[in-house]
Amino acid sequence: MGRLEGKIAVVTGAADGIGHAIAEGFAREGAHVFAGDIDDAKGEAVVAALKAEGLAADYLHCDVSVAADVARLVDTAAETGGRLDVLVNNAAIAIGGMPLHEMTEAQWNRLIAVNLTSVFLGCKAALPHMIRQKSGAIINMASAQGHVGLDGWTAYAGAKGAVMSMSRQMAVEFGPLNIRVNSISPGTIATPMNEKIVAEQGDHIARAWLKMHPIGRIGKPSEIAEAAIYLASDAAGFTTGIDLRVDGGLTAAPRFVPDLV
Ligand SMILES: NC(=O)c1ccc[n+]([C@@H]2O[C@H](COP(=O)([O-])OP(=O)(O)OC[C@H]3O[C@@H](n4cnc5c(N)ncnc54)[C@H](O)[C@@H]3O)[C@@H](O)[C@H]2O)c1
Repeated sequence: MGRLEGKIAVVTGAADGIGHAIAEGFAREGAHVFAGDIDDAKGEAVVAALKAEGLAADYLHCDVSVAADVARLVDTAAETGGRLDVLVNNAAIAIGGMPLHEMTEAQWNRLIAVNLTSVFLGCKAALPHMIRQKSGAIINMASAQGHVGLDGWTAYAGAKGAVMSMSRQMAVEFGPLNIRVNSISPGTIATPMNEKIVAEQGDHIARAWLKMHPIGRIGKPSEIAEAAIYLASDAAGFTTGIDLRVDGGLTAAPRFVPDLV
């Protein structure tokens, strides 16, 4: 019996990286996963692979910065499954590696739309279903950078700090309705997001990441998926309002600041 047997779950940004690992982990634990992403080819392939294993999964195009897309993904899951047990607001983009004053207003607005407004839109769509059934688990993807500073990432860190704060607030607001809300703060994880950062900024960034994590390596997407499985499961029935740091000790001992030049 899987840890998420029979649960209906929505995962955004599920075509690649951490979201892919969460969708796969949830499906293997018995959930019916409704996966959303903007990369339809990769998203369809993820779902096809899960279905080929006999697991329950569906893919829908969903740009998390578009309210109608988010509502369609969440409502389709709730209508098809007859309920909505889990929402993972995972999708986000990395715009940074620059001093704040060099960021354009367009970059700021895009970052906030994809990394923060998306969490509002996901919760706005999911809460009516969860309130009706008086149960649910929401997991919002924050970041170690919501806890500690890193040169060049002020806007990203600001959005992630807000995601954490919103999660805590929602846990208080919706706890009486048996809706749990938690966030996860990953350290550096081996995903396309970080491959792109290294490609753009250079190998010294990758070397710095190794030193930044006391555990001596960066993390695997499956290690974040494990945390999400726990928070989504009934084993976490008394866990709400927390930010679960899965960061190889990064925020316990910030000890190296990479040189951006
Ligand atoms: N990788 C890390 O080191 C790390 C660290 C801390 C936090 N995080 C957070 O974890 C989450 C996942 O990061 P990742 O590293 O897997 O990213 P990634 O870039 O590797 O994958 C992100 C996925 O989201 C999709 N996506 C991008 N924009 C979207 C949009 N507007 N709507 C829907 N989907 C969209 C992409 O197509 C991709 O499939 C993000 O919230 C990120 O901020 C990542």
